[in-house]
Formats: sequence, structure tokens, C-alpha cells
Amino acid sequence: MFKSKQADSEGYSTFTMLLVPVLFWFASLTKVVSGADWCYQSQVTCNHTCTGPEEWGVVSQYCSGRSQSPVNIVTRRILPDERLTPFHFTGYQEAFHGRLINNGHTVQLDLPSSIRIEGGNLVAPYKAVQLHLHWGKDGGPGSEHSIDGEQFPMEMHIVHIKEEHNNLSQAEKDRTGVAVLGFLFEESKSANKKFDPLINALKNITQPTNRTTLTGVSLEMLIPPQKNMTKYFRYDGSLTTPGCHEATVWSLFENTVPLSRNQLAAFSQLQFSNGKQMVETYRPVQPLNARQVYYSGGHVALVSTVLLIMSLLISSALSLSPSV
Ligand SMILES: *[C@@H]1O[C@H](CO)[C@@H](O)[C@H](O)[C@H]1NC(C)=O
Ligand SMILES: *[C@@H]1O[C@H](CO)[C@@H](O)[C@H](O)[C@H]1NC(C)=O
Ligand SMILES: *[C@@H]1O[C@H](CO)[C@@H](O)[C@H](O)[C@H]1NC(C)=O
Ligand SMILES: *[C@@H]1O[C@H](CO)[C@@H](O)[C@H](O)[C@H]1NC(C)=O
Ligand SMILES: *[C@@H]1O[C@H](CO)[C@@H](O)[C@H](O)[C@H]1NC(C)=O
Ligand SMILES: [Zn+2]
Repeated sequence: MFKSKQADSEGYSTFTMLLVPVLFWFASLTKVVSGADWCYQSQVTCNHTCTGPEEWGVVSQYCSGRSQSPVNIVTRRILPDERLTPFHFTGYQEAFHGRLINNGHTVQLDLPSSIRIEGGNLVAPYKAVQLHLHWGKDGGPGSEHSIDGEQFPMEMHIVHIKEEHNNLSQAEKDRTGVAVLGFLFEESKSANKKFDPLINALKNITQPTNRTTLTGVSLEMLIPPQKNMTKYFRYDGSLTTPGCHEATVWSLFENTVPLSRNQLAAFSQLQFSNGKQMVETYRPVQPLNARQVYYSGGHVALVSTVLLIMSLLISSALSLSPSV
């Protein structure tokens, strides 16, 4: 009797062991097919209505790759690189009008392809496609990249593709097809008036698929002054949303963009498709693995040269001192 019960439970567990993987496989298959149901951690509920960052590998295999973004930048491990010269910006100072859309994951501003970047050791000229942002809750931590473990309240990505490509999906197939300029934000006491056109438009696009046209803005208004854009971090990574293609040359600027607490908090009025506040729209940092982060600031090299000369002078002074 006891024995047969045991056999029953064994039979049951064998059945479960077979069934569970099949169910998971089926679930992953439907996820791949539907494709669009990835979400941020802030949207994940106990009843798993969407696929959070830990499971993005199920949505797209590339999200489990070894060169993913964002990363935490450890400043004592960065390598100064003289080839990381200042960028040459084309059209960044020109006013344009672009579609601003709540796409269910972020707010995105479409950019005219006449906007370009060159230099900065990029392998080719790149043209702008769109910009979007990642933010926290009511001005709390919300950047994707962090520096020495510090997360900033917001991060803006200006997405460019190599000029020869027609669109982002084509550029994603090229290892250096995409160049993203990343800008970290910092809370300031006073409001940054240059952001008002964008922030004022948010109330018109609180729900996914809502769109409006932003007029009279230029990219120059949304980034630090050009003379302050010579210092940036460079590494090879991925897009930070599924499909996570490892096709992005990252340039993350050291100088931050100031916004007041109220301006930062304004982004939290946007909503996800379930009507919940669109907050904490960032992917957690990914392992750096074998990658190196480079730094454009030749100043680091200059400082170490000065230190070397000083230590030589001191040691020669010390070696002279006994004879004095
Ligand atoms: C999931 O759980 C939330 C509460 O955590 C509830 O509001 C929602 O209706 C549930 N959704 C489904 C599909 O069961
Ligand atoms: C992207 O461009 C390629 C090549 O021209 C084209 O085949 C494809 O349909 C385009 N995809 C989208 C989403 O527009
Ligand atoms: C927002 O909507 C209001 C009212 O419909 C409209 O007057 C205004 O122009 C819109 N602003 C933007 C930037 O879309
Ligand atoms: C925003 O989208 C929602 C849902 O699609 C729609 O009901 C609403 O009318 C839209 N609002 C505007 C201002 O377009
Ligand atoms: C430019 O950079 C310097 C040094 O980091 C900083 O003190 C200054 O506030 C920056 N200017 C602006 C307008 O961001
Ligand atoms: Zn992004």
C-alpha cells in the first residue's frame, strides 16, 4: 500500500517534471510570438502579467548576451584614450519640430535625420533617429548607467544610426550600427527653462499611444554646453530594451544636465498601459564581463604625468639630501 502510494507520487512528480518545462517552453514561445509584453521591474506583479528585466532573455535571446547595457562605470578602472576627441555636431543647434510620443515604455521624440554626429573615434558619421529618457519615481533614482555605484535621477539617450542604414532595425544587425549619446541628469535648485517645452507637453501624452508635436526645440537646449562635452566614457554595449542587440557604441557624458525636483517629477505623470504611473523606467546594470570602459579626458593622463615628474623631483631631492 505504502509502496504503491510512493510509486504514485513518483509517477506524479515525473509527470510534473515533464509538464513544467513544456509549459515554460510554451509560455516562452507565446512571449516570443507576442514580443511586446516586456516591462520594467516597477510593472512586475506577483501574478506575472508581463516579463520583467530578469526574464528579458525569454523575449529576446540577445538580452542574455555578454556585452549588455547599461553598466556601472568604475572610475578607477577606466582607461584614458587620446583618440576620443570631441564630437562634431551637425544640426544640434537648429530648431525642429518632431513627434513626441508615449510609447508605453518611455517618452520618445523623433528626430530629423539631418542631425548628425562625427568624430569621437566613431567609425563613420551617424544620423539621429530619436531621443528618449529613463527616470525614477517623483525625481528619485532613475538613470540606467551608474558611476561608482551612484544612480542619477534621469538619463537621456540620443539614438543615432550609421548613415548607410535606413532604420534602427537594420542598424541593429551591424555591431557598430548604433551610436547612443547618454546624458545623466542632476537635481538643481532652480528650474531649467530650456526643458519647459518638453515637460509642458507631457500632460498631453499621459497615456500610451498619445502623441503630440513638439515645435521650436533644438538638441542644444537639452544637453550641456558644447565646450563642456569633451569628457565622456566609451564602451561597446547594447540597446537597454528588448531586443537588446549588441550593436551600440556608447558615449556617456560626464557633465550632467540640471533639472529641478519638480521638473524631474513631471515625468512620473506619464502612465504605462495598465494605467499605473510610468516610473522607474530603467534596466538594472549588467555585468561588464571582458569589456573595457575608455575615457576621453586626456586630463587623467596629464595629471599622472605631473605626478610622475613630481615624484622624480622629490626622489632626486631625497637622494641629494644626504650629501647636503
Ligand atoms: C494581478 O494582480 C494585481 C494586484 O497585484 C491585480 O490588480 C490585477 O487585477 C491582477 N491581474 C490579473 C490578470 O490577475
Ligand atoms: C528597415 O529598412 C530595411 C532596408 O531598407 C527594410 O527592409 C525594412 O522593412 C525597414 N524596417 C522598418 C521597420 O521600417
Ligand atoms: C497640449 O494640449 C493643449 C490643449 O489641448 C494644447 O492647447 C497645447 O497646444 C498642447 N501642447 C502640446 C505641446 O502638445
Ligand atoms: C490618449 O490615449 C487614450 C487611450 O488611447 C485616449 O483615450 C485619449 O483620448 C488620448 N488622449 C489624447 C489627448 O489624445
Ligand atoms: C561646465 O563644466 C564646469 C566644470 O565641470 C562646470 O563648473 C560648469 O557649471 C559647467 N557649465 C554648465 C553650463 O553646465
Ligand atoms: Zn534608452
